[in-house]
Amino acid sequence: MSEAPPRSWLFVPADSEKKIAKACDSAADAIIFDLEDSVAPERKATARDILKGLGKRSCGPQWWVRINPLRTDEHRRDLKLIGLADIHGVVLPKAESGGDVLELAHRTGNIPIHAIVTETAASLFGLLSYRDPKSPLAAMSWGAEDLSAALGASSKYDADGGLSFTYRMARSLCLAGAVAAGVQPVDGVFADFRDEAGLTAEAAAAAREGFTGKLAIHPAQVDPINAAFTPSADEIVHAQGIIAAFEAQPGAGVLSVGGKMVDLPHLIQARRVVERSSR
Ligand code: COA
Ligand code: MG
Repeated sequence: MSEAPPRSWLFVPADSEKKIAKACDSAADAIIFDLEDSVAPERKATARDILKGLGKRSCGPQWWVRINPLRTDEHRRDLKLIGLADIHGVVLPKAESGGDVLELAHRTGNIPIHAIVTETAASLFGLLSYRDPKSPLAAMSWGAEDLSAALGASSKYDADGGLSFTYRMARSLCLAGAVAAGVQPVDGVFADFRDEAGLTAEAAAAAREGFTGKLAIHPAQVDPINAAFTPSADEIVHAQGIIAAFEAQPGAGVLSVGGKMVDLPHLIQARRVVERSSR
């Protein structure tokens, strides 16, 4: 990927011109205009009209549209929007397999697709199916809200307050599935938008595990998310040290840097850090 992938992906209900203006003023790397769950059925036509009226990109972030799921009437209506406003990519909710992505791509052409891949029971069995070099898939994210509704769960949490195993499994499968497919792994939403400390901790944990971005639902979540997915000055210096050490000894497979062993996996990770710091 030449352009650094978005760190923050901010959802904005597409039927709210006020929120769209606010989202444009935020520092989000990507805005997702939502036509799906945050827009009531009787407001979907209004939301589509607003998107049609947006025309050429008038604010900084990448513009994405979350359309309604495959094989629904609303989905077919949403598709008519593609190519009208200055849309960078399409977010596909309730994706169950790489086949779903190809089915969408068949109708939308080469426009990048971000699939939300853990929202139905069946979706959990499809996470290795997104690997396809011909697919325009660019990112995969996971969601717990729809999955818990689909499974009939009364809660997503264990008695100790942590996310239950099923949702942690879905999150890890999304991460590994996205990396296997060579696309961006994006962590899911943190719903409690007044809890900045909680968001900061969750985003930092996601970044440590390998996610390179996170969904947001409120403008106040953008800055903490951008910070969590931006390598710190120390991390950059450390990564540059590893790269320099290998450049100084081109034939070496393993080296000592700062008293620690470094080999190929460390070099790959160091290159990633430097690439991400270029934003
Ligand atoms: N994008 C842009 N602006 C937003 C926003 C968003 N996602 N969420 C809130 N704002 C705006 C509000 O309109 C408000 O503007 P104002 O000061 O001009 O009135 C300001 O930010 C502060 O909002 P606040 O009062 O803290 O929250 P709220 O009660 O108005 O909204 C939600 C709470 C959850 C309804 C709102 O954040 C939202 O719509 N989020 C997106 C939901 C979504 O898209 N879900 C689908 C994916 S899971
Ligand atoms: Mg949903």
